[in-house]
Amino acid sequence: MYNSKIIGLGKYLPDNVVTNADLEKIMETSDAWIQERTGIQERRHIAKDSDDSTSSMGVKASKIAIERAGLLPQDIDLILFATLSPDYYFPGSGVLVQEVLEIPDCPAMDIRMQCSGFVYAVATADQFIKTGMYKNVLVIGSEYHSGGLDMTTRGRNISVIFGDGAGAVVMTRAENNEVGVLNSQLHSEGKYAKELSLIGPNTGRWVPEIMEANDPDDISYYPYMNGQFVFKNAVVRFSEVILAGLQKAGWKPEDIDMLIPHQANLRISQFVQKKFGLSDAQVYNNIQRYGNTTAASIPIALTEACEEGKIKEGSRVVLAAFGSGFTWGSVSIQW
Ligand code: UT7
Repeated sequence: MYNSKIIGLGKYLPDNVVTNADLEKIMETSDAWIQERTGIQERRHIAKDSDDSTSSMGVKASKIAIERAGLLPQDIDLILFATLSPDYYFPGSGVLVQEVLEIPDCPAMDIRMQCSGFVYAVATADQFIKTGMYKNVLVIGSEYHSGGLDMTTRGRNISVIFGDGAGAVVMTRAENNEVGVLNSQLHSEGKYAKELSLIGPNTGRWVPEIMEANDPDDISYYPYMNGQFVFKNAVVRFSEVILAGLQKAGWKPEDIDMLIPHQANLRISQFVQKKFGLSDAQVYNNIQRYGNTTAASIPIALTEACEEGKIKEGSRVVLAAFGSGFTWGSVSIQW
């Protein structure tokens, strides 16, 4: 059995910045409400005239991660692509990345676990590396939310939160079992599937039926979130799954050098920080600048934390996420 470790990271954010003041012009909301309830000041939206897509943003982040890993695209043995906003219903975005990066015929798998997607993907990569089946795994989190949001007052509880972007890491076999991914904790609870979901069109209600109904009030093809319910579950599950990871790693909260929580809401991160008695220096937040980029939020934050020198060799790093499904998980990494 081998340990896996992260050896290269990259991120890509579209140039187009959308501030809270920009949103005030198109819906009934306010900078004060958004900042107080979520911490978000601005987010990125792919510009209307841009060629960017979920897969192309993933490619841009991946190229940086692969180069920083000192590898060539052809060295990648497996692609894992975490997203809830794939380019197409099918095939997945992983194969589109594979084609652009010109990696001949490696497996390219999409991970559909929403906000927990990156944590699930890292855990999956770790298992493939552990068994020796694959050596170099490209793990991507990328989301293109802005095109599919209800940008009117009706959709404001969701549309002010989400942003576009991508992050990627290259994982490989560690030379010893003292470093790398020490453990991963994964959970889901399907009874709350609809509490944070986008359900239409679906196999119970195909496109012809929706077109025939022609109902302007049909919002089933926009994301839905029972905000307060999700929030209450998030703070509990975040805490449980971080604690489980710490116990398995034999770490105490004060041992954490960097906690990277999925950037769902600054208030959730602050709750978790307080619960474990962590200092500001132990928790990374960038939701203020990018909003919630679901599967992309952790790899973007992880890349920035490394670029800023806040994670280095020897650091004890915890990644944790909660989201639609419900799904949640954590990964403890000895850097
Ligand atoms: O990433 C995956 C996991 N996601 C999460 O963990 C998110 C969890 N939930 C949340 O972050 C929060 O529930 C939200 C940020 C989504 C909402 O914050 P909240 O404090 O729970 O607000 P609320 O939904 O209870 O709404 C409070 C009020 C309502 O008005 P009334 O009924 O009190 O008059 C809403 O209509 O705020 C209103 N409201 C807004 N007002 C201005 C909702 N959205 C907005 C908005 N601007 N954008």
